[in-house]
Amino acid sequence: MISNLITKGMNGIPKIPGDKSISHRSIIIPSISNGICEINNILKSEDVLHTLKALKALGVRIIEKEEKIIIEGRGLNSLIEPKNPIYLGNSGTSARLLTGLLSSQKFKSILKGDKSLSSRPMNRIANPLINMNAKINTTNGSLPLTIESSNLIARDIELTIPSAQIKSGILLAALNTEGKTTITENKVTRDHTEIMLESFGANIEIEKLGSKKIIKVVGQRELYPNNIDVPNDLSSSAFFIVSALINKNSHITLKNINNNSTRNGILLALGKMGANIKLINQRTINNENLCDIEVYSSDLRGCELGPEYADLMIDEYPILSVAASFANSPSVFRGLKELKVKESDRLKLILLNLQNCGINCKTENDDLYIYPSENYKIINSSIQTDFDHRIAMAFCVMGTKLGPLKIKDFKSVNTSFPSFRDEFNKLGGNIF
Ligand code: S3P
Repeated sequence: MISNLITKGMNGIPKIPGDKSISHRSIIIPSISNGICEINNILKSEDVLHTLKALKALGVRIIEKEEKIIIEGRGLNSLIEPKNPIYLGNSGTSARLLTGLLSSQKFKSILKGDKSLSSRPMNRIANPLINMNAKINTTNGSLPLTIESSNLIARDIELTIPSAQIKSGILLAALNTEGKTTITENKVTRDHTEIMLESFGANIEIEKLGSKKIIKVVGQRELYPNNIDVPNDLSSSAFFIVSALINKNSHITLKNINNNSTRNGILLALGKMGANIKLINQRTINNENLCDIEVYSSDLRGCELGPEYADLMIDEYPILSVAASFANSPSVFRGLKELKVKESDRLKLILLNLQNCGINCKTENDDLYIYPSENYKIINSSIQTDFDHRIAMAFCVMGTKLGPLKIKDFKSVNTSFPSFRDEFNKLGGNIF
């Protein structure tokens, strides 16, 4: 049996930060509304702060208080030309959403990012926008990217890559485009943008036909202002959930967690694995579903997940792979192609780091197989993260069972969860 390094388990109520996806949208959409919006519980992590700085550079007045920010929206068409290129650090969401937003504005802008972001694909957002007459030049399909002033034309666009970032970038462009833009998605992607746009009075119509969704937006209709309470982030919670499940004597409670059905694959997957997780106090705020989550130590079993799970939990495979390593039977997770173009090639890093932890696993095509054992012998305790926050946090959880692991570039956690180490250790974790 694998010994329990943290013998008292993980216990308590961690403070989970605001949802990252909703936080980005809670800056961008109020900024183009027609009035003053108060945003509570926004995530103040590096990624979101890059979006915030970008909107300030585009002339939006944003007042930052402790737990809230106040945004004075400038309307759809009144952003101003930034004095300098806009730097977005590591944030793919900022890059894709802002490309859409800026493509309809009447000035030139340049978007830049760090090394990792500059290697990520941008044609996936540039091409549909170019189809709408946007003038966008990428650098070999990536950042830096230049957007020139253009009059966009409403089109019917089918999403060929299931991505909420692409869908949201197009929606933001469509808001300031005359006529009706239609977006068809054949696979589920997170729907925070549509939900928020509806609550800001956008002229948006949504039709669902099975897993197919058709979104129609009539552009050039001003958004009215609205206040937002950002729920806490399920993706950030997942590291605590798994740490409690795989360590004996654990019981944690997570409060005000976003439980959006386009994002909750991790809860469904862990449910299949026999996790003792209870969702309580289910409620709706700003049309987003929230709940509190109780998690107890559990004997997990392995499971097989088809590619449809990837649509609902793409960011959670690093931590799910850690959970699967301590189950009592093998797991296979299928259809993980999109994992290769995240903040790092996550499929490669999951495999490499699991193998270095002594875990028998393999990839075949884009499927990941994990064969748990009763004993692991660490081969290399240095965890390669390529500056990817979710790889870093997932292997901190691995360290509660196998420690001590050396997580390289641990400071990447600041992109989504600056207080991760403190919260994790407060509950019984062992990050030094
Ligand atoms: C996000 C969408 C997802 C996700 C990312 C955040 C968003 O990316 O991986 O962390 O906020 O829209 P894709 O849309 O590219 O799948």
